[in-house]
Amino acid sequence: MKKLTTLLLLVFFSTQLFAQKTETVAATPPMGWNSWNKFGCNVSEKLIKEMADAMVNSGMADAGYQYIVIDDCWQVGRDSAGNIIPDPKRFPDGMKALADYIHSRGLKFGIYSCAGSMTCQKRPGSRGYQFQDARQYAAWGVDYLKYDWCYNEGQNAEAAYKTMSDALKATGRPIVFSICEWGSNKPWEWGKGIGNLWRTTGDIFDSFKGTLNWGGKGVLDIIDLNADLWKYAGPGHWNDPDMLEVGNGGMTDEEYKTHFSMWCMLAAPLMAGNDLRSMDDETKKILTNEEIIQVDQDALGEQGFRFIDYGDQEIWVKFLQNDELAVCFLNRADTPWNVNYDWAKVGIGHAKHYVSFSDKKYDLRDLWQHKAIGNTGKNLTADIPAHGVLMLRLTPEKK
Ligand code: GAL
Repeated sequence: MKKLTTLLLLVFFSTQLFAQKTETVAATPPMGWNSWNKFGCNVSEKLIKEMADAMVNSGMADAGYQYIVIDDCWQVGRDSAGNIIPDPKRFPDGMKALADYIHSRGLKFGIYSCAGSMTCQKRPGSRGYQFQDARQYAAWGVDYLKYDWCYNEGQNAEAAYKTMSDALKATGRPIVFSICEWGSNKPWEWGKGIGNLWRTTGDIFDSFKGTLNWGGKGVLDIIDLNADLWKYAGPGHWNDPDMLEVGNGGMTDEEYKTHFSMWCMLAAPLMAGNDLRSMDDETKKILTNEEIIQVDQDALGEQGFRFIDYGDQEIWVKFLQNDELAVCFLNRADTPWNVNYDWAKVGIGHAKHYVSFSDKKYDLRDLWQHKAIGNTGKNLTADIPAHGVLMLRLTPEKK
């Protein structure tokens, strides 16, 4: 009897532990840096270490950025036993030493592979080697895997991602699993429990709007493709509208503020994609705006939704914990928007939450100006520049 009780207790505690582990991986959207947007295939141990240093020295780590992720092109082949070989010229000390370095800076280490036979840049993919690769990553100390979809040879996406997910779980190491099949097979419908985030669209390119012939999409185009997906996001499983372009030079600072604000409204993973070693002040200010980041990282884990669509002007809402909410006035137009908004006219809500401003007053805080700007008791008036936002946090007024 005593033995049975001990056994039952053991089973109980180990399931509790396991539940804790799976819940805490990406409980809020992961934040970090990824090499692809700025450096493409030009990755090396030197670059990655410098980026880890810059993440700490620039204040990005203090603002919550954590993962340093090497995207495509770190791998060159497999040895006779099938083990993946990192490029010996670019990573002379190997991945374990690099992971140790990143960990010694208080950061986490991410890597990239592909569900197909080759990665998008024709490096060896993980098809047929999923468990072997996962074991290798865990032995190196990998904390995050981005897993692509090139050369997939007609596999079923859900099954392919589940295989790698199982392989990662089998290692016993908590590893964030980033599904990157570009939204082709509606991963929001099956990704929960398999991965922690899933790309919803083709690749971002450094532009406010537009879609290129290879599928590259600007900020507004990506926002539109994510607008109806809010109900699929939650703690541990996020829609991923792709990595940030803030600081890469293709947009104005106003547009980068909009890009960043809207990613936070979308509860998006925040993976910086610029050169952290040489950020100008404005780029740093955008990427480390903690009041905006708090909206993204809110523990309730709700993704924002498009509440009002006036055409070129939109109002987005994200419900936050403690009855607070973030409201973002988005001006897509090429001309300023002179807002005059009557809060009392219409309540804000969806199936899960509802707020009526005629019953209750909220204090307003402007998250870019970092100041209080009154309350919902009177009309909001503001001039929002072309391609700009007004991003507010609403807090119930204390009686
Ligand atoms: C794409 C992916 C990009 C980047 C690239 C590397 O499929 O969407 O984010 O990882 O492959 O080749």
